[in-house]
Amino acid sequence: MHLLGDLLMSIIIKSPREIALIKDAGKIIIDLFDILKENTLPGKSTWELAKIAGDFIRSRGAIPSCKNYEGYPGEICVSVNDTLVHGIPSKKIILKEGDIVSYDVLVTKNGYTADACRTYPVGKVSEEALNLIKVTEEAFFVGVKEVKPNNRIGDISNAIEKYVESFGYSLTDEFGGHGVGREVHEDPLIPNVGKPHTGPKIVKGMTLAIEPMVNLGKKDVKIMDDGWTTKTCDGKICSHYENTVVVTDDGYEIITLKKGE
Ligand code: MF3
Ligand code: CO
Repeated sequence: MHLLGDLLMSIIIKSPREIALIKDAGKIIIDLFDILKENTLPGKSTWELAKIAGDFIRSRGAIPSCKNYEGYPGEICVSVNDTLVHGIPSKKIILKEGDIVSYDVLVTKNGYTADACRTYPVGKVSEEALNLIKVTEEAFFVGVKEVKPNNRIGDISNAIEKYVESFGYSLTDEFGGHGVGREVHEDPLIPNVGKPHTGPKIVKGMTLAIEPMVNLGKKDVKIMDDGWTTKTCDGKICSHYENTVVVTDDGYEIITLKKGE
């Protein structure tokens, strides 16, 4: 979500019943990623991929909640190569060998929402691209290790920042993670850059979407004329990885991750 928005903090702590419902939404995303991965092939349009996603989500009795979120037109976000976030599915955007593509998915079931994103290679891609995808995923795991009661949100941000910058990659400060569950975007904001021991305290029962967005080149991004598609200014590739996590008594549980991944 956009970090320049509302600064008011009102973090919703979820009950065990609500957490179970958010997990139900998360399970649909886990299965959806398998389907999207299989379908990430040269020649497919981003529109076709979003259609597959929307149909699958609805077949599971859920809602693809990107659609109509603040007017966003797609059922999921599909972002190719130098598009960091909010790529709008299009029949004109056709995947080709060597591309990388991210699928950012919001699923709402019985009123509760989970949020996750994966970036996949299309066919054979460069070592550089594979490494960027890997580091982005690892950045999530480095960040999520900081999720435990009494740590602060800034501990997550700082861990992600230090890790990503150690590879010479960069992170935008214009988008970041967020609370999720009753709403698509809840407090707190979870920037991907920040200082340790700052920000709101982490409390059991919070549900958080942590989402490193990593640029191979410079951190600057621009929003296109469609009002959504956000690209790197330098035209270099970028990667995005996100999971929804629940804060537990002594740490976290990741609810949009397939067992063994
Ligand atoms: N999953 C994205 C996020 O974390 C959702 C994008 S909002 C949309 O903020 F409107 F583009 F769907
Ligand atoms: Co998100």
